[in-house]
Amino acid sequence: GRTPVTVTITGAGGQIGYALLFRIASGGMLGDDTPVRLRLLEIPQGLRAAEGAALELQDSAFPLLAHVDVTDDPAVAFDGANVALLVGARPRTAGMERGDLLQANGGIFGPQGRAINDHAADDVRVAVVGNPANTNALIAASNAPDVPRERFTALTRLDHNRALGQLSAALGTPVGGIRGVTIWGNHSATQFPDVAHATAGGDPVPTVLAARMGGTEAAHDWLVDQFIPRVARRGAEIIEVRGSSSVASAASATIDHVRDWVLGTGDRGWTSAALWSHGEYGVAEGVISSFPVTSQDGTWSVVEGLAVDAFARERIDASVAELVDEREAVRSLGLI
Ligand code: NAI
Repeated sequence: GRTPVTVTITGAGGQIGYALLFRIASGGMLGDDTPVRLRLLEIPQGLRAAEGAALELQDSAFPLLAHVDVTDDPAVAFDGANVALLVGARPRTAGMERGDLLQANGGIFGPQGRAINDHAADDVRVAVVGNPANTNALIAASNAPDVPRERFTALTRLDHNRALGQLSAALGTPVGGIRGVTIWGNHSATQFPDVAHATAGGDPVPTVLAARMGGTEAAHDWLVDQFIPRVARRGAEIIEVRGSSSVASAASATIDHVRDWVLGTGDRGWTSAALWSHGEYGVAEGVISSFPVTSQDGTWSVVEGLAVDAFARERIDASVAELVDEREAVRSLGLI
């Protein structure tokens, strides 16, 4: 059979880890003809939970699962990694300042970036899920000088999928009939979910919204007052309703992100992912920002040539300003 692909998952003993592992092992991420070898990284307090998940993986008898290792040593965890899912992070606790949060995460993503640099496979592809995801990805990338920066990405696919879900509900179009949605900027409340170029069932979404809502202005108000905040604050809504954070949808979006990256977006149009900026669409160079992207042959490309109107410009700039701010903060802490 084929050589297994090595997938490293950090925070594998946590909630998203638990929701991810079984889908990866069943072939949902890399395809049902690709065997996988899983390496689960945890901190000492999380090792038992990860070991327990490994027992359940064994009990699931997945034909594609070649091997599972559990470790608290990043050098072991990233050894030969082809795909690295950086899920474990330091959450913000009550009273914690942004500087403390970034410092604590720098202590995680700096060493993990160095371990990826020194031990991962040449083709390693990294997806950062742990928050603040974009800046954690920047820290990891900056600590891995031998790995192309394009291989470090952060997850905004959950935001993208949330936007699809909201549009689908508002328009009565199945999600499969909606294309051309974009999340711009940071995976945070400043993100800009943009439907200006979207189509539903082949019709331009702005036109469909205007027809449904009684004019262009009403449609714009719906976007600004309902759609954008609902998508951007969906995480808080899930916590309020469910009594616990989004886990299954986050794991599902992580699977979508890696599957599209490795296997390609094909003819399904673009999606959203946070990538190292080379200055596309006026986004500051050297931050990890969400863009409209397609993937082919294992490489993401930013979709070119979309018109950005004044409203979009303002929203993109505001979210990118936050990313630049976070970068300055981690720079002044010596983390990058
Ligand atoms: P969790 O707290 O259940 O699990 C996190 C796990 O990471 C814990 O088991 C912990 O022991 C482990 N961990 C902490 N530091 C580590 C390190 N240095 N190395 C290895 N493992 C480490 O949290 P959950 O629900 O699984 O969420 C994980 C992260 O994902 C959080 O930062 C959360 O904010 C983020 N998230 C991101 C989303 C996105 O769209 N980008 C969506 C949802 C959650």
